[in-house]
Amino acid sequence: MSTKQVNRADIIFSPYSVAPYEILRLSMQKTKPEVIEEITESGLRGRGGAGFLTGLKWKFFANTDGDEKYIICNADEGEPGTFKDRKLLVEVPRKVISGMAIAAYACNATKGVIYLRAEYNNLIPALKKELDIFDEHAKKFGLKFKIEIFSGAGAYVCGEETALIESMEGQRGEPRNKPPFPIQNGYLGKPTLVNNVETFATASMVCRYGASTYKTYGTSDQRGSKLFSISGDSPKEGVFELELGMKISDFVEEFGDGDTKAVQVGGVAGFCIPRKQFETAIVGEGNTTGGATMIFNSTRSMYNVLHNYLDFFAEESCGQCTPCRVGTQQLLKGIEAVKSGTKPVEYLDDLIKLSKTMQITSKCGLGQSVTNSFTSIVQNFKEEMIY
Ligand SMILES: Cc1cc2nc3c(=O)[nH]c(=O)nc-3n(C[C@H](O)[C@H](O)[C@H](O)COP(=O)(O)O)c2cc1C
Ligand code: SF4
Repeated sequence: MSTKQVNRADIIFSPYSVAPYEILRLSMQKTKPEVIEEITESGLRGRGGAGFLTGLKWKFFANTDGDEKYIICNADEGEPGTFKDRKLLVEVPRKVISGMAIAAYACNATKGVIYLRAEYNNLIPALKKELDIFDEHAKKFGLKFKIEIFSGAGAYVCGEETALIESMEGQRGEPRNKPPFPIQNGYLGKPTLVNNVETFATASMVCRYGASTYKTYGTSDQRGSKLFSISGDSPKEGVFELELGMKISDFVEEFGDGDTKAVQVGGVAGFCIPRKQFETAIVGEGNTTGGATMIFNSTRSMYNVLHNYLDFFAEESCGQCTPCRVGTQQLLKGIEAVKSGTKPVEYLDDLIKLSKTMQITSKCGLGQSVTNSFTSIVQNFKEEMIY
């Protein structure tokens, strides 16, 4: 192994050799389809967790008609273990804002919203100053795009794009049925593009460096670099920008404490990878990760880890659909019963089946993703689940 596999990238946090609003100005000298083509060509995937191709999303959005089209920057950042969007908003807000503005130009949107989780309200004064500076530039460039800040109400599920829109409209933060997707029918019934904070910042950098340069980082499926929020048993906790494509073994060598037994990739909605699978890539083909990466060493009880996750899911389930509302509670009670000896170890298999049923039948990504961490922990650390 060589730590060279964990390449520190310097794209998103690259120094301002070209100021973000200069990138906007230069982008506006291109045609709108050219800007979208640049993003498409870069292969950038959304950094909010689902990994949808950003260029494709922008193209769909550009093709929707409407006198009022919205762009929402999803800064809800509720996934336990992630704190990268906060760093972007604090350290490079102009890259985020210019990414939103480039999307607005390319897709003909006139209104923007930064949906900020309530815990980040302390960032509002500084962001407002940044938005005033942006307004001056937008005016100078002849771009009609006004961004406001909306403060969320602190629920994890409000990070889901349709629940986020519901909460902006004053309703309970509950996911909508899809279709229609926000791009067709979003905030106030208008076409709405929702992208993650990091997606906008990266899009701006793609326009800065060009898709051909950006593509030289990462793998054919996972292009570029991304931010990883690293926490747990690591001497180097924090936010790091890393080139995509690294193996977990290399990641652990760089960030672990020498005693790593598992790595949770993609936050609680992601997978818990045991040591025997460390040769796999940290971001699998065809998907991406929000970048919440928690490292556990041998002193950690994986039962406690799982209990903690399930407690969180049961608490955060919006309760709208039965598989998730009841399933999260049953999984929690189920592992407690096995741990106390009230139920036999075989009961864990029934619980795995339940979690897979939740994956198929739940309405949104919260209930659908519980099986990822549940199954990976129960199967790989069964001996820690029993009495
Ligand atoms: C329960 C749940 C929570 C989510 N939380 C966030 C979040 O905090 N931030 C975010 O950008 N996306 C979050 N998402 C994903 C969004 O629904 C959406 O896919 C994303 O904002 C799209 O942006 P992207 O294409 O740039 O990734 C969440 C999804 C689910 C199901
Ligand atoms: S899966 Fe859970 S969070 Fe999502 S709509 Fe159903 S109950 Fe609500």
